[in-house]
Amino acid sequence: MTTRPSNIVMLLKADQSLGNGMPIIKPENDTGPLPDLISARSLCKGFTNGGARIDVLKDLDFNLSVGESVAIVGASGIGKSTLLHIVGTLDRPDSGQLLYREDDIFTYDDLKLARFRNRTVGFVFQFHHLLPEFSAVENAMMPALINGAGRQEANQAAEEILVRVGLKDRLHYRVGKLSGGEQQRVALARALVLKPAILLADEPTGNLDKQNSEQVHTLLMELNQELSMTLVVVTHNSELASFMSRRVTIVNGRLTPVT
Ligand SMILES: Nc1ncnc2c1ncn2[C@@H]1O[C@H](COP(=O)(O)OP(=O)(O)O)[C@@H](O)[C@H]1O
Ligand SMILES: [Mg+2]
Repeated sequence: MTTRPSNIVMLLKADQSLGNGMPIIKPENDTGPLPDLISARSLCKGFTNGGARIDVLKDLDFNLSVGESVAIVGASGIGKSTLLHIVGTLDRPDSGQLLYREDDIFTYDDLKLARFRNRTVGFVFQFHHLLPEFSAVENAMMPALINGAGRQEANQAAEEILVRVGLKDRLHYRVGKLSGGEQQRVALARALVLKPAILLADEPTGNLDKQNSEQVHTLLMELNQELSMTLVVVTHNSELASFMSRRVTIVNGRLTPVT
């Protein structure tokens, strides 16, 4: 749990001063710790590969506060993507719960879950999975259309977010004609067009050169701040991980903090 950021005011009552004469500093309007956005409890997930069973997540617990940024780091094969897919409801656990603001979302049927996912979760992957024959705007507006927005409204939302990610001059370019860094920024815009509460990114810059990676990293951190958007990023990039409020890894199927 993190503490709610707020203006700090000094309470200057002399009788409350500390032994060293310093006044007690208390946060103004402190209403306690931030609420959890997501709380994963005892998640278990395994796969059977060629007859052999592997347990990837074993009673894994994971709490995410509103606005938090978390890096999931560690070697290939430890279950980072598996966890991200479950947190993003792209996959269901074998057992365990995922509470989203107290709602047990794996009790939803597939349709309700798909609606929840579209409105609440944004995804960015290593490979952008955009539609290359469609323009940047057409790709970015897709989640809004799926969510029932009118064409004009969806178009406007897509243009706004594309401008925000620095693609003002590429709005109507076919995505197949854009550079790798630009494509990944279109993918970011598509993930953000509905202003999701949480953005999940799986090695979002794993396929980009240093300069483009840095641009995407900066954008992720700015958007986390601007939109109070909770951010979970799987990354091998130690610089990006160092920008996050928390770093975790998976050891024997459970989440472990990295210092
Ligand atoms: N759909 C799947 N079917 C079978 N095995 C899988 C599947 N997805 C992941 N795995 C296995 O689960 C383990 C964890 O995978 P993954 O979560 O992708 O790891 P990471 O993202 O940390 O590299 C790996 O051994 C992988 O081969
Ligand atoms: Mg992975």
